[in-house]
Amino acid sequence: MPRILGIETSCDETSASVISGTGDEATLESLVILSQDVHRIFGGVVPELASRQHLTAIVPVVTRALDDAGVTLDAIDAVAVTNAPGLVGALLVGVSFAKALAHGRGVPCVGVHHMEGHLFATALEHPDAVPPFTALLVSGGHTLLVDVEAWGRYRLLGRTRDDAAGEAFDKVAKLLGLPYPGGPHVERLAREGDPARFRFSRPMLRRNQQPGDDDYYDVSFSGLKTAVLHAVRGGTPDDHPHIARAFHDALVDTLVEKTARAVTQFDRSRVVLGGGVAGNRTLVDAMRARVRPLGAEVHAPSTRLATDNAAMIARAGLFHFERGERATLALNAFASQPLPGLLP
Ligand code: KG4
Ligand code: ZN
Repeated sequence: MPRILGIETSCDETSASVISGTGDEATLESLVILSQDVHRIFGGVVPELASRQHLTAIVPVVTRALDDAGVTLDAIDAVAVTNAPGLVGALLVGVSFAKALAHGRGVPCVGVHHMEGHLFATALEHPDAVPPFTALLVSGGHTLLVDVEAWGRYRLLGRTRDDAAGEAFDKVAKLLGLPYPGGPHVERLAREGDPARFRFSRPMLRRNQQPGDDDYYDVSFSGLKTAVLHAVRGGTPDDHPHIARAFHDALVDTLVEKTARAVTQFDRSRVVLGGGVAGNRTLVDAMRARVRPLGAEVHAPSTRLATDNAAMIARAGLFHFERGERATLALNAFASQPLPGLLP
């Protein structure tokens, strides 16, 4: 049974994980996630600081992941590493380390697309979170709605035209004077808000949209952010919970409705959520309530596997490893790259 060491350094988490298994029977043996706190001071990720911290952390994080799994490098059959998309300087730390380690040990290295990793994350916790399913990936950098026909066969249905869902949460948190990263803070504040006090229009959501319209699945959150800005300027701090609630409701409604459209069009019985925003309970509960009548179950990862982690990279890497895919020493890091396995 192959055992994979996964490495993730695309943004501000240095993470390593060991998994073993074949096909959809994969076991998580260890997962270490070191979140870089330094960025909180700046209210956002500072790329140069992220790279430096990855450099300092990578050896202890990998060592710890091996220790936690109770194995040495001798037991590793392949090294899987995120090589795109992300901050190039940050990615390069993981990619260079993984290539050197794999080359030194004489084992294969496999490059993994970070967003494909998010597609696999929930499968590590829920045996039913396997294709075919409708996937909604909502993170700080990306918002993708994907029909997953099989592992490696993806139909990209929609994406954000401007801000990612997590980015919208972070920007709104800033406007409301909440700390970074803002998602959990906005979610908490919104719970205290009165839903009737403010109402923001649902971006890119109209009743008369038809499959095939280019805004049927796409989303856009920058207008919502501007609506929040105007409400904050025109109100008092007492309004903040209500503004947070109106923002939260509009964003969740939009994501849930677009996902429900995909479930209906492709007649799927599962919805799999991924990315940091999938840790949002309100979103998960609203998604369940909306798609259950359509006959679909919702699978969401735990917070630990929703945010950036190397277990999902190891899991996606295992899939590519089993298909015989091997990276050469020319494996490079890319800031952006289309999801692999996209169907026309
Ligand atoms: O997937 P992730 O860890 O990193 C990226 O790949 O971007 O996602 C981080 C994002 C941040 O924008 C953060 O504010 C958001 O996920 N987030 C949340 C929640 N927890 C994290 N957004 C809304 N509600 C949450 N509970
Ligand atoms: Zn991510």
